[in-house]
Amino acid sequence: MIIKQQKIAQRVKNIEVSAIRQMPILAQQYDDTVSLGQGIPAIPTPAYIREGVIELLKSDDNIGKYSLQPGLPELKQEIAKRVGQDAGRSVAADEEVIVTVGAMEGLVATIMALVEKGDEVIIFDPSYASYQEQIALAEGQVVPVPLRADDWSLDEKALRSAVTTRTKAIIVCSPSNPTGTVFSRAELAVIAEVAIKNDLIVITDETYSFLTYDQAEFTSLLTFPELKDRLVVCRSFSKEFAMTGWRVGYIYGPAYIIEQALKVQDAVVICAPTISQQAALIALTGKPQANDVDIKGVLAARRNFICQRLDQLPDLFSYTKPAGAYYILARYLKKTAWDSDKFARTLLAETGVITIPGGAFGSQSEGCIRMSFGGTEEDINEAFNRIEARNKKL
Ligand SMILES: Cc1ncc(COP(=O)(O)O)c(C=O)c1O
Repeated sequence: MIIKQQKIAQRVKNIEVSAIRQMPILAQQYDDTVSLGQGIPAIPTPAYIREGVIELLKSDDNIGKYSLQPGLPELKQEIAKRVGQDAGRSVAADEEVIVTVGAMEGLVATIMALVEKGDEVIIFDPSYASYQEQIALAEGQVVPVPLRADDWSLDEKALRSAVTTRTKAIIVCSPSNPTGTVFSRAELAVIAEVAIKNDLIVITDETYSFLTYDQAEFTSLLTFPELKDRLVVCRSFSKEFAMTGWRVGYIYGPAYIIEQALKVQDAVVICAPTISQQAALIALTGKPQANDVDIKGVLAARRNFICQRLDQLPDLFSYTKPAGAYYILARYLKKTAWDSDKFARTLLAETGVITIPGGAFGSQSEGCIRMSFGGTEEDINEAFNRIEARNKKL
């Protein structure tokens, strides 16, 4: 007889499907749901990208073939140009860039290349939920460093005291999913200084680098030249170009890490899908059409709208207005004895509104739910109408 659980590797038993993706699956059992859940912008991939790909499908006989393993050379050149502009230095497309299957596979390839069993990796609490699973898969040890709960800013003392002789890396995400905060240059300077002083690698997830609001400004860790030999930048086409389903992103880092991450990519996916790489190349080099949506403008309007709706419920939620990305961590002020999983599940069962339990992102965001405002204004409106109606009954 097979004892099924004994057949499964412990490192996989140790990880879970993220709540971000579990909640929409759970929601399938309910009719008439409305989503503030997964971070998928309700914006179609711009027409200039889709039409460019249609043309290639007709004319390019290589579109259905593997690309070179690290990515299409023309795309890597464009990426190197972009990264080079941000970093203020020249970037070697061949040695320092890999086109990946979204930022996600870039993160995994980097973590698998660097983290050994028992190595400690610092992540901020709260952080994007997948980091915990990616580190666990590499058999590393997650070390959560709490952010300040009043505004999700960096707690310098907490960061410094989390470093040990086993610390291998720090993962940074700014603008942040799930907090919507954007680290200032001063906060990033602290992280850089701690990394250098303790000989750590910094992995920066810049999936939302394009998306800040009002006066907030994105600063890339690329602009700290002193980090050059210890910095891996993970970026994505998913959000900036409304291309979540195309699954394409890239990593940039020093050659000694990139050549090892490339081995992981080779073992896992060979290369990013060629058709998606072509779409990414068009995204970077093509011209939006007049009827293509202004993605940043649309998301800025949705952010103002969801904040207005939240401001009308001061007895139910408190929150920090997001300076970037398209998420809000809202602390619920009623039913505080419930953990966030129970709160999110009950909200779903009673109103059909999908949110993500804050506990999925770390212990600091227990007592919160994450709301994405990537959805349409109609959806946000409907979700808040339902939440408001339920609030009257709580
Ligand atoms: C912070 C962060 N990193 C990475 C990803 C994954 O991005 P990609 O679609 O490029 O794999 C997401 C997706 O929501 C994200 O929010």
